[in-house]
Amino acid sequence: KKVVLAYSGGLDTSVIVPWLKENYGCEVVCFTADVGQGIKELDGLEQKAKASGASQLVVKDLTEEFVKDYIFPCLRAGAIYERKYLLGTSMARPVIAKAMVDVAAEVGADAVAHGCTGKGNDQASNWNVRFELTFFSLNPELKVVAPWREWEIQGREDAIEYAKKHNVPVPVTKKSIYSRDRNLWHLSHEGDILEDPANEPKKDMYMMSVDPEDAPDQPEYIEIGIESGLPVALNGKALSPATLLSELNTIGGKHGIGRIDMVENRLVGMKSRGVYETPGGTILYAAVQELESLTLDRESIQVKDSLALKYAEMVYAGRWFDPLKESMDAFMEKLTETTTGSVTLKLYKGSVSVTGRTSPNSLYRQDISSFEGSEIYNQADAAGFIRLYGLPMRVRAMLEKGI
Ligand code: ARG
Ligand code: SIN
Repeated sequence: KKVVLAYSGGLDTSVIVPWLKENYGCEVVCFTADVGQGIKELDGLEQKAKASGASQLVVKDLTEEFVKDYIFPCLRAGAIYERKYLLGTSMARPVIAKAMVDVAAEVGADAVAHGCTGKGNDQASNWNVRFELTFFSLNPELKVVAPWREWEIQGREDAIEYAKKHNVPVPVTKKSIYSRDRNLWHLSHEGDILEDPANEPKKDMYMMSVDPEDAPDQPEYIEIGIESGLPVALNGKALSPATLLSELNTIGGKHGIGRIDMVENRLVGMKSRGVYETPGGTILYAAVQELESLTLDRESIQVKDSLALKYAEMVYAGRWFDPLKESMDAFMEKLTETTTGSVTLKLYKGSVSVTGRTSPNSLYRQDISSFEGSEIYNQADAAGFIRLYGLPMRVRAMLEKGI
């Protein structure tokens, strides 16, 4: 018997290794996914995993896949959860969980295990649901072990004691006062003083962006190139998805772009206060949405936006591989086929403003829209149009007045 464990090198996952061996008598293969969270000392990590009793550590760099196949589809869909959240953590779970399913197949494991973070012992935390729904959809035969649902270990002290008893080196990484989750798209902060929604976050909490007040006094202009609803270039230079995003993170962070402070509804309905930093992502959402104003008509935008709400909800709820969500991707892909062109944005002290947009597929025609008058738009058509368009309202008014 063999189990693949999602491993970070922190205290919780280090303790899970001996626990799995003791309680399931299985070989433990540790797995670490690189999604741009900034993994420190990779060699150290392998030694650490082995010192905890793992037979091996598998590391996979998922950054390009994460940006191309997870982040970009959400961006193209315009998915935003509860008006603000750009879904940074939600999108990372399915790419990591999918890689675990693949690794299990590669090493011949019959089970996967994942460590709990999140709110206390919330058994249906966003985290658990996202991981487990992905496992179910990709390999329903895989056994899922969730140690904290079974074990006696309560809190940090217990975990340290368990580690010592099993000769597992206790990680020296000091625990941040915030519960954080980082990847190439975003950094989230929860907990500590943030738990009172009335408290303003401390200045030194932020890590990806400067305070808008401290941002440069000079605005910076950038141009994003877009092809069929997906960003492909920065300032005229074609870049891979992950490179484009990381360059925008640097530029956006420098100008204090993309800080979001919100109270959200977790999957189980509990409210939670979170602060997010999504500098590059905020710029990309602004750019892609703006280009649609040229390439999509009114009704298409309305339908797209209404589906985007459902799309975001499903991604938040861990239903990435749900056929409904996949069908919405097909819809989004088709609808944004012609969304190609470029958008120029001005970044200045925390704000992103669009200053220009162009597209070879633009539905905007200056000859029609011009105030100077045109051939196609004939003023003489207006009177009849307005009379017919207003017919239902007239009929109702006639009824009310007894005419
Ligand atoms: N509330 C966000 C979400 O559920 C972010 C969670 C961040 N994760 C964490 N372990 N702090 O998607
Ligand atoms: C997650 O990290 O996916 C969500 C965190 C949580 O469940 O609190």
